[in-house]
Amino acid sequence: MKDEVSDLRIRKTLVLLIIAAAAASALVTALLINIFERKSEGRNAYIRLVEVTEDDTDPEKWGANWPRQYESYKKTANSTRTRFGGHGGSEAMPEQKIERDPWLKRMFLGYAFSIDYRDRRGHAYMLSDQENTERLSKPQSGSCLHCHASIMPVYRKLGNGDAIAGFEKSYQYSYRELNAELHETGHAHPVSCVDCHDPDDMKLRVTRPGFIQGIQALAASSASLPHLPSIEEWRKGSRAQPYDPNTAATHNEMRSFACGQCHVEYYCASNMKLTFPWGNGLRVEDTEKFWNDTTFADGTRFFDYKHKETGAEVLKAQHPEFELWSQGIHARSGVSCADCHMPYMRDGASKVSDHWVRSPLLNISRACQTCHHFSENELAQRVDQIQQRNFDLLQRAGAALMDQFDAINRARKEGATDNDLQMALELQRKAQWRLDFIAAENSMGFHAPQEAARILGEATDYARQGQVRALDWRSNQ
Ligand code: HEC
Ligand code: HEC
Ligand code: HEC
Ligand code: HEC
Ligand code: HEC
Repeated sequence: MKDEVSDLRIRKTLVLLIIAAAAASALVTALLINIFERKSEGRNAYIRLVEVTEDDTDPEKWGANWPRQYESYKKTANSTRTRFGGHGGSEAMPEQKIERDPWLKRMFLGYAFSIDYRDRRGHAYMLSDQENTERLSKPQSGSCLHCHASIMPVYRKLGNGDAIAGFEKSYQYSYRELNAELHETGHAHPVSCVDCHDPDDMKLRVTRPGFIQGIQALAASSASLPHLPSIEEWRKGSRAQPYDPNTAATHNEMRSFACGQCHVEYYCASNMKLTFPWGNGLRVEDTEKFWNDTTFADGTRFFDYKHKETGAEVLKAQHPEFELWSQGIHARSGVSCADCHMPYMRDGASKVSDHWVRSPLLNISRACQTCHHFSENELAQRVDQIQQRNFDLLQRAGAALMDQFDAINRARKEGATDNDLQMALELQRKAQWRLDFIAAENSMGFHAPQEAARILGEATDYARQGQVRALDWRSNQ
């Protein structure tokens, strides 16, 4: 009897133990699955079927390892259209901006942009659109390829292995020479995986020398950069080494830096290396000061072209998306370019970044509603209202600049000399720089609405001041 009782006890204990063990192991398994899921989400586990190296500029090869990213990347060949974004015109050729806004064409008289200046479109076209633009009817520099091709192997070749050295030589080559080199060496691809990812570990990185030198100058400046915490951190150190985005930047900053390699204001010609004008900061007056303080080899003041009608030595602004974004509430809140333009898509256990880089308005649910809990329609309307206001101000500033041109032309007919018009021409330079900064920026004001309005307000004011000076040229001395 005693034995039977203890037998029962032992059996009961055993059953309990088994149940406990099963429960514990289920718990551990669940935890492991969870950890694995999270880890693979973070690392985005993948099977490397083919080796890729620094010289693999063909995205198709990378596609074997990362098919989901490659599939979406290929979609940049699809046409996109929104009210102000993507492109109008036929599939063969995007619409001419200079025909849509005649004041743009007049503003560019004396410069290649008055010949051909079209809507942008997807990344897949960047090399062919550059090769086909009639702006190439004027001699252009090899620097143009910095942002339109997977150019790094060519830089390394020019620099005997040193990409920066090669880059520093590249402006002396003509566009045609360097473009031929690109094709001959088999690297004639638009921006490719290797331009934003380290082939060894897929880490996000920047490769473009123009950006690296530009951001180093920016870091070394005293410009306030609350949206770039790693630079503020670097400034507290010894500064013995220049700021290096690839080692110092946060992952979140890299999600904007990757785009800042190209979507920026620059100077590109055969008399100076490709330059991002960030040595005083990123605001419109900081970059203006940078250009005003720059001189050509012969000591004369920097300008992009002499305006054909008025004779003013003016500046041309180029797509300052990175700069304008930097002034907005999204940058200040840590929202990166990739958050809106390459939002995550769920794919089973992992998150995949949508490599179909395009207007977020075509993708509001993933691009905006992750943070903003309003309906798609409401969000679209908010953007449209910002863009409409910006568009109206832009047109007004354009009209003011045209009135200034008319006043200068009239003064010239009345016998005014360059000397008499000095102030008016200087004001044209200031007005036009601001107007073009917002006209060339591709978000129609969205990236920083208040800043865009401030800049357009100043553009209109300078144009009107210049108009008054020209009308009253006789009393200008
Ligand atoms: C908060 C979201 C957001 C962030 C962050 C953002 N953008 Fe945008 N971007 C937009 C919206 C909205 C538009 C307007 C799209 C339209 O008009 O169709 C736009 C337009 C653009 C366009 C023109 C798109 C087209 O289809 O023509 C480019 C280029 C661009 N952004 C680049 C950038 C870059 C580079 C950055 C980072 C430096 C950035 N954006 C950061 C929301 C964002
Ligand atoms: C190597 C230079 C380069 C890099 C890096 C780059 N872009 Fe572009 N991007 C371009 C060029 C050039 C075009 C215009 C192509 C054309 O019109 O043929 C363009 C076009 C675009 C467009 C317009 C697409 C459309 O359908 O109209 C958007 C949006 C855009 N880029 C956003 C980004 C974002 C966001 C990043 C970073 C994740 C980025 N780009 C990185 C050079 C670059
Ligand atoms: C610092 C980077 C950079 C450099 C250098 C650069 N581009 Fe671009 N380019 C871009 C970006 C970004 C876009 C897309 C945004 C836009 O169209 O405003 C673009 C758009 C274009 C387009 C399509 C829209 C248009 O303007 O008709 C052409 C053509 C073009 N570039 C030609 C050139 C030529 C020619 C050069 C050399 C003189 C050059 N690019 C140098 C970044 C660059
Ligand atoms: C203009 C820059 C750019 C180019 C070109 C580019 N990527 Fe990315 N890629 C990004 C960004 C930004 C992310 C988001 C990184 C993050 O947040 O971790 C990303 C993420 C990834 C990831 C990590 C998983 C994910 O989806 O978030 C993989 C893998 C990847 N890209 C593969 C590719 C492949 C393959 C190509 C070429 C077909 C490519 N990328 C081209 C910018 C780029
Ligand atoms: C990662 C989060 C995030 C994403 C993605 C995002 N936003 Fe925002 N947005 C913010 C934050 C944060 C603010 C600042 C609001 C605040 O702090 O009160 C903001 C502000 C705004 C504002 C007010 C702007 C102003 O100047 O006052 C608008 C409009 C807006 N977002 C629209 C959009 C649209 C449209 C998209 C998609 C294209 C988008 N946002 C994507 C986080 C985000």
